[in-house]
Amino acid sequence: MQTFKNFKAKPISGAMGAEVFDIDLSEDLSSEAWTEIQEAFHHYLVLIFRDQNLTDQQQFDFSQRFGKIIPHPYVKGLPEIPEIFKIIREPGESFSWDGFYHSDLMFLKKPPLGATLYAKECPPFGADTAFTNMYLAYETLSDGMKALLDGLEAENESGNPQKYSNKYQSMEELGKKGAMGAIHPMVRVHPKTGRKALFSTLAFTKRIKGMTDSESAPILNYLYEHSIQAHLGCRLEWKKGSLALWDNRVCLHHAVADYFGEVAKHRRVMQRATIEGEEPISIKSYNELNSN
Ligand code: SIN
Repeated sequence: MQTFKNFKAKPISGAMGAEVFDIDLSEDLSSEAWTEIQEAFHHYLVLIFRDQNLTDQQQFDFSQRFGKIIPHPYVKGLPEIPEIFKIIREPGESFSWDGFYHSDLMFLKKPPLGATLYAKECPPFGADTAFTNMYLAYETLSDGMKALLDGLEAENESGNPQKYSNKYQSMEELGKKGAMGAIHPMVRVHPKTGRKALFSTLAFTKRIKGMTDSESAPILNYLYEHSIQAHLGCRLEWKKGSLALWDNRVCLHHAVADYFGEVAKHRRVMQRATIEGEEPISIKSYNELNSN
């Protein structure tokens, strides 16, 4: 257990993640508490704050301390706070909202900095969210593969807008028709830590810029399998009232669809606030910015 002045943090795995205890996010946080949260966030990449009792507005207010809260481009949000939306799986539904490990909304020009996810209703066990550390995914590649990827960009696409809601009886689409896409560096540099992270997933990354689909597919498949190895990540076990915060720039995540037996009988309702990010910084731009 790592003791900060304003809370305790219990690491989840050697790779990433910490459970956070003894802090109430509904209260006004002191600047010292806020500094410590950011320190823990940059160190662990994903934090899960236990035993919270937050209104929708309090989730919004806490999330907004990291940046502007942006609505999901395709899924309808809450009536009072449309930037926040619910991910709802009814009993008997057997799909995970996010079958592949992904970084949220990679198809935007400015993909999110991060998100908070608040557990409103969850099965008594199971239905975890799995994360993987994309700094480690990059750092554990061979020097040859790093040299190949360092200057490359890839095309990321949303796919069909309806797929974000139409399989789930309790999720509503916004009605936008067009798919979205953005080109990003395959290796990005975190603006605060200066560390390099792989930025690629089969969920959204369709092809490497300048290569054909057949040329890029084996590389993208390899990178995905490499990134999602269990020892590079951690799993969050949900309890009602837990609030997760992740750095979307340097992690992938996905909801584990172990919807069998007892778990399948339970409703799962998570509420997400998505924090606006910046355009991903390539190694070249980072070096140029820091050369003066
Ligand atoms: C998400 O991908 O933002 C949701 C993850 C989850 O429902 O566990």
